[in-house]
Order: sequence, then C-alpha cells, then structure tokens
Amino acid sequence: MANTPSLGPAGPSLPGMTLERHILDRQRSNPEATGDFTRLFHQISLAAKIIGSRVSRAGLSGVLGTTGKINVQGEVVAKLDDFANNTLVSVVQYGGQVCVMGSEEVEEPIPIPEGFPCGKYVLQFDPLDGSGNIDINASIGTIFSIHKRVTPSGGPGTLEDLLQPGRDIVAAGYVIYGSSNMLVYSTGDGVHGFTYDPGVGEFFLSHENIRVPERGNTYSINEGNYHKWAPGVQEWVNWIKSPQDGRAAYGHRYIGAMVADLHRTLLRGGIFVYPADKKNVNGKLRLLYEASPMAFIVEAAGGAAHTGTERVLDVVPTELHQRTPLYIGSRADVEDALRIAHD
Ligand code: AHG
Ligand code: MN
Ligand code: MN
Repeated sequence: MANTPSLGPAGPSLPGMTLERHILDRQRSNPEATGDFTRLFHQISLAAKIIGSRVSRAGLSGVLGTTGKINVQGEVVAKLDDFANNTLVSVVQYGGQVCVMGSEEVEEPIPIPEGFPCGKYVLQFDPLDGSGNIDINASIGTIFSIHKRVTPSGGPGTLEDLLQPGRDIVAAGYVIYGSSNMLVYSTGDGVHGFTYDPGVGEFFLSHENIRVPERGNTYSINEGNYHKWAPGVQEWVNWIKSPQDGRAAYGHRYIGAMVADLHRTLLRGGIFVYPADKKNVNGKLRLLYEASPMAFIVEAAGGAAHTGTERVLDVVPTELHQRTPLYIGSRADVEDALRIAHD
C-alpha cells in the first residue's frame, strides 16, 4: 500500500511528491535556508486546505452571501472573503516567520500580535479572488506573495516592507478552488502545480514545470466595458476577435475570477487583460496582491505581464491598495496587445 502511485495524482514517476516535500527538497540545496520558508509555506497550504474545505461546503455551512460590510476598495465583503482573510491571518500570525502582512480585506498593514516573534518574511494576499463567483458555485481562488523584509530584523514590520516591487518577490502562488483544488507556486525558477487529494488531505505534484505557450488562441477581458475603454483597447479587441493575416479569430473566455482566468491562460496560452477605463482610470486589479504575484508566476513560466506603460514587476508601489492596468499571458499575445492598444 505504501508505494502505490495512486496515493497521489503525480503518476508513477513521482509517487507521493507532496507540496511540502517539494519545497523541502529545494530548500535543502540552499545553504542559507533556516527552515522558515518551508514553515511559512506549510502554514499557507494549511490555510488553503481550510479555505478549500469551507468553499466546497459553502452551500451547507451558512457562508454564502455577504457580511453587510464594505471593504477598503468600496466593495461588498462576502462572508467567505472574511472567512478566508481571518483564516490566513490566524494561521500565519503566530508562526514567527512573518513580520507584517497585507490583505485586500484590511485597510492597514496587519501587524504580528504583541509578544509573538517577528520573522524575516512579508506576506501579502488576496484571500478570496473572484468573490462574485461564490454564490453561483463557479471557480474562485487565493493569491499570495512573499518578500523578504527590508526593515531591520527583530522588530515589527512596516508599510515599507509591503511596498516592494514584484521583481523582489521570493515566492508567489495561487490556489484555485475549482473542479479540483490546486496550489500553483514559483520561487522564480519554474512554476509547479499541486492538486489536492481530499481523501489524503495533501497537495500532490501534478503539473511540473508549467510553461505558458508562446502564443494562445483565446483572449480574456470583460467586454461589457467596451464602451468605457480607450480607442486603442477597442481597436485591439476588434483585431483579436477577427480573422487576421491567415490566422483564425481568437475565442473569448471570461470567468470573472482572475485566478481562474489566469490558470487557464497559464496552461493553454492566450491573454488576460483588465485595462484602465473611464470608470477605473488605473484599472481595477490591485498591484500588490493580484497583479504582481500573478506577473511573477507568469514570467517564471515564460510569459509576460505589462501595465501598458511598464513591466508589472518593475512598478515600485506607493500605496498598499494601489491598482494597475494589466496585460498578462503568452508573450506574443501580450506584445500584440501592447503594440495595438498602446501605440
Ligand atoms: P476580488 O473578488 O478579489 O475583489 O477580485 C475580483 C477581480 C478579479 O478576480 C476579476 O478578474 C475581476 O475582479 C473581475 O472584474 P469585473 O467583474 O469588473 O469583470
Ligand atoms: Mn481579487
Ligand atoms: Mn478578493
């Protein structure tokens, strides 16, 4: 029984390669590793399991619907937004690996409670991405990034630790709660996907070294905003959905949860865009816990991520909840979009 490949979805070549073992194996070859990174990842994967378990029972456990609160973004807070945020904070804050956290759902930096050790890492997250999908049982996700602190060690972390560019991320990942739950992460040298086996209670390696195709055949954008876009963005959408120069028209796919739209884009190629528009002059998506971590992952898989004016990973943030336009996905598709929409 102990050696049966069916213990995990990884197949006979990698039986039982759990997320934890994958991280541990890689950290072993790092002479500076103290075990803190592995411990932090363990906490994040535990939070993902707890959130995933609640998501899969959402209709039964009284967590559908809203809390009645409005968050710092001016958006309605779903009960699961709150649950996911509280889970991540409470699982990570006492561990001693992190000095400060940033969350979509919390206006200010989240400190480590007094009396508990402050570590060398900085964690930022969108606890529940695509919360508009919760009540209709469509895919949602969690996004996170990890930086090293820039303030002196020992004391509490500050806003300065959170306002770091994406190029300094040490690891980023997302969890998709879909037809199966998956955790995808990168430390910059490859992107690896792990599928959750609920019978075993573990994430098993199922997608090793994901590479985003150089070009895809789908585009993903909320086309209902067409009338609010700049003429260049309209021109690009008109171009991509028409047959051109011997190529077929691109198909349109839009789930409305960035994690799910980008998971498809990572595996199949294509492009996901949330541009600036008349209503959202800086775009809608948040730089620190949506665009940057996803840009880090997509670049590590060979793709590209741009704001329309610069590489997402080069943006130096000035505010915790700042927004950014986003063009992300297959390298050739992002280049086409920038050439047509921003020339
Ligand atoms: P969140 O649920 O964390 O607020 O994020 C929702 C985001 C993102 O996931 C998605 O791509 C986008 O909002 C969808 O926006 P529209 O409904 O404007 O298309
Ligand atoms: Mn989100
Ligand atoms: Mn969210």
